[in-house]
Order: sequence, then C-alpha cells, then structure tokens
Amino acid sequence: EARSSGDAGGRPRRRVVVFPLPFQGHINPMLQLADALHDRGLAVTVLHTGFNAPDPTCRPEFRFVPVPDGVPGEVATSGDVIGILDAMNAAMEAEDSAALQGVLASVIADDEQPPVACIVFDSNLLAVPRAAAAVGLKTLVLRTASAACFGCFLAYPMLHRKGYLPPQESNMYMPVKELPPLRVRDLFYSSWSDQNKMSNLLARAIEAVNNSSGLVINTFDALEPAELEKIRKEFCVPVVLAPGPLHKLSSKSTGSSLLNEDCDCIKWLDKQPPKSVLYVSFGSLASLNANEFLEVAWGLTNSGHSFLWVVRPDLVRGLDNPGFPNGFEAAVEGRGKVIRWAPQQEVLAHSAVGGFWTHNGWNSTLESISERIPMICRPQFADQMMNTRYVEKTWGVGFELEGELKRGKIEKATRKLMEEREGDEMRERAKELKNKVGDSLRVGGSSQIAIDKLVKHILSLSL
Ligand code: UDX
Repeated sequence: EARSSGDAGGRPRRRVVVFPLPFQGHINPMLQLADALHDRGLAVTVLHTGFNAPDPTCRPEFRFVPVPDGVPGEVATSGDVIGILDAMNAAMEAEDSAALQGVLASVIADDEQPPVACIVFDSNLLAVPRAAAAVGLKTLVLRTASAACFGCFLAYPMLHRKGYLPPQESNMYMPVKELPPLRVRDLFYSSWSDQNKMSNLLARAIEAVNNSSGLVINTFDALEPAELEKIRKEFCVPVVLAPGPLHKLSSKSTGSSLLNEDCDCIKWLDKQPPKSVLYVSFGSLASLNANEFLEVAWGLTNSGHSFLWVVRPDLVRGLDNPGFPNGFEAAVEGRGKVIRWAPQQEVLAHSAVGGFWTHNGWNSTLESISERIPMICRPQFADQMMNTRYVEKTWGVGFELEGELKRGKIEKATRKLMEEREGDEMRERAKELKNKVGDSLRVGGSSQIAIDKLVKHILSLSL
C-alpha cells in the first residue's frame, strides 16, 4: 500500500535511518530497501562512511550524513576487505562510539525532518548497536546475504562440536548432513584462516540480531523456505522478514554503483540475437591472477559465443587496467565486448543475454534468478561457495566451473550452458524460478506482505 505511512497531505510521518556496510554488494540492497520504504511513505536518512561514499545526487529525496570511518588511506586503497572492515569497526567503537553516537544524536535532533523511528543497519557494522542504544534508538538488522548463510552462522558452534570445523584438507568434500546441500567446503568460514576471529565476528552478528527489533533478509519465502523457518524458530526477535529480491521491490530505477556504468553496452546488446550472449562478471571484489585472466580471454574467444565481459580496473591482481593478449580484439570483433562496469540488472533483463558466468555474490545470484538467466558459477570466498551449491543442487539453474581455470574448460562450460541440452534444462528451471519471484512480488505475494509488515512495524517503533 504505497504512501501508507504518510500523513493526510502525503508527507512522511516517520523517518528511518539506514547505514550500509560500504561495499557495493552491501550498499545496493540497503539502498534498494530504503527506496522501497520511501515508496511507502517513509523519509530516509542514509549514514555513510567517507570510504566508498555513495553518490547523493542519485537520490535527492534522501538525506546523506557522513560518519567518520577511521580507515587510513593506505588501507582504503589496499583492496583488503577484512583490513578495511577491522579498521572501520575499531575506529567506530573507539571511545565508546562517541563519534557515531554524536552523528546519531544530531540526526535524531534534526527537527526539519519527521521523527526518527529506527535505524536499519548492516550487521557487519559492529559499533551500531551500542551507539544506537546510547541514544535510545531502536535497531533493525539487514542481512544482505542469503538465509542459508545466516543459518550457517547459527550452526557454527554445532559444526565445531561435531568435528566439521576447523576445516581440514581431508574433509572439504564431506557433506554436512545437518545443512543440506552444503559440504564443508561450501561453509561460509571454510576459507578463513583465523577461526577465533571468525567465531567472535559471528557471535557479535548474532548478538546484534538478538538485541534488535527485527531482522530483514534479502531473500523470499519460496526460495529458501526451510532456511527461513529455521531462523524464525531460533530467534525471538519481533519480526524476521524476507521481502526480497530487494532490487525488484521499488519502482525506482536509479542504481547505486560506485563505478560509472557503461550504458553503451545496452545498445550493443540490442544488436545481438535473443539469448545469444554470455554475460561475464565477478562482482566488485573477486579477482583473477594474470594467468587466469589470459585463460578467460582465450576461453571466451575459443567458445565461439558472443560475450559481454566486465573487466574492472582492479580485476587482475597486481595489474592496473590489464592488457589483452595479442590477437584477442581481432578474434572477437563483433561478438565480444569488454567494459569496466555494467548496468548489471539491465543487462540481465536484456533479451539478448542467455547465460551469466558469475562469482555468485548473493546480489548477482538473486539478480540472475530474477531474470531467468542460468549460470556458470565460479565462487571465490565468503558466501559465494554456498550460493553456488544452492544454484547447482537446490535450484538446478547452473553448475560450478571448478579447479584451475583453463581455456579448454571455459570453452566447454560456455558451450554446455549456451547450446547443450543440460543448459536448456537449467534455462527451463530458471524460468520457473523467475515465476516464483514474480509471485512473491505480486500484490498479496510474500515479499509484498513482508514489506508492508516492515513498514507497519517501523511505524510502531518510537524513540
Ligand atoms: C560481496 C560478496 O562478494 C558477496 O558474496 C556478498 O554476498 C555480498 O558482498 P560482490 O562480490 O560485489 O559482493 O557481489 P554481489 O553480491 O553480486 O554484488 C555486486 C553488485 O554489483 C550487484 O548488485 C551487481 O548488480 C552490481 N554490479 C556488478 C554492477 O552493477 N555492475 C557490474 O559490472 C558488476
């Protein structure tokens, strides 16, 4: 029910503060959620760090307020996600979150805006709960990854008790029978070397949810029914809502890309036959070494298929703006296009795209599912392995390209997805999954019900 939370003149009666973790895969879903809440009549203030600050001109209807992030310049440019996260959390927690508390207090005191109902924050921002409590602000947690991923957090002590963890070379492919279809290798933390630090982070993320007024997960009921049920059983927070995929919930089309989107690629796609193009992108953080980069270039070339490949300036470790191998450009002329950053949702929705070679970040996975695109999966870290496992085993809409990256394997995988029967079957199942997305977004669908509940819940919270 759009604008349900406005006053008689349609002006918002309440405001939400949102605070995304400053990485692309976290900024997008938080701002998409904020768009959906704004569509339904709430005013929005966005807190953001200086590091990876979003562009406020994309959303003139929101207020943007900076929070000192304490990330030293050399760490900010290092590409070390964990280092950046640690520096940010340490700085925000220093002196009992004084700076963050100050920002929250001044946001609350801004009486040109409607009264603040609560803050929705990314659970990786460890300093928020205490700072919010100090100024009397209620919190809601947004989990930007899957419900299965959060279920893994909850299962961490059990996984240790039962000997699945710490992971060993010898048990990587052992099924975790308590968490089907996952194997030890697919668990969120199997790639972490420091298990103590990991367990501390997980415990704090869970504590943040337990002390909050509700949990929002970017997924939908029909996609992860058992996983959501488990979370709802384990937590006694007032609401656990799954209004995803969040990028489909708002009528707004503005993105929140940190890099400029190359929109010319849409004109190029317009000229390609239906379902003929493989879209290749590894998200905002995953990277290749120089040799893998060459193998991908030749694998795509030798496949004979058309492709649109996102090569971010920092895609290849140790090389800024990597050069292509001799003869590459001539070999793929007319059927291969390389860009620095794509308007990804538009690309996946384009009728010329028939497959997606992805790292399976959760946003990319949801975006692909939403547009009936089957996937070649090449996960690297964090939740990407488990997303791949669900894509392959639970939903049957893609398969993993495993082991060393070699051009011959890439060529074969591309053919399998784009022209063989197995690929067609995945494409059929992807179509069915897209229908489920459609059902959840329809009036009366589970995601619409969830977002309406969320708005009601937010209006019931007050300082
Ligand atoms: C990170 C983690 O890697 C991921 O596993 C976790 O679930 C979220 O945080 P990232 O690696 O960037 O995210 O992947 P993903 O979750 O797929 O998010 C990338 C976002 O950037 C997507 O919304 C995608 O649409 C967008 N994107 C990507 C573009 O707009 N253009 C591009 O060219 C590539």
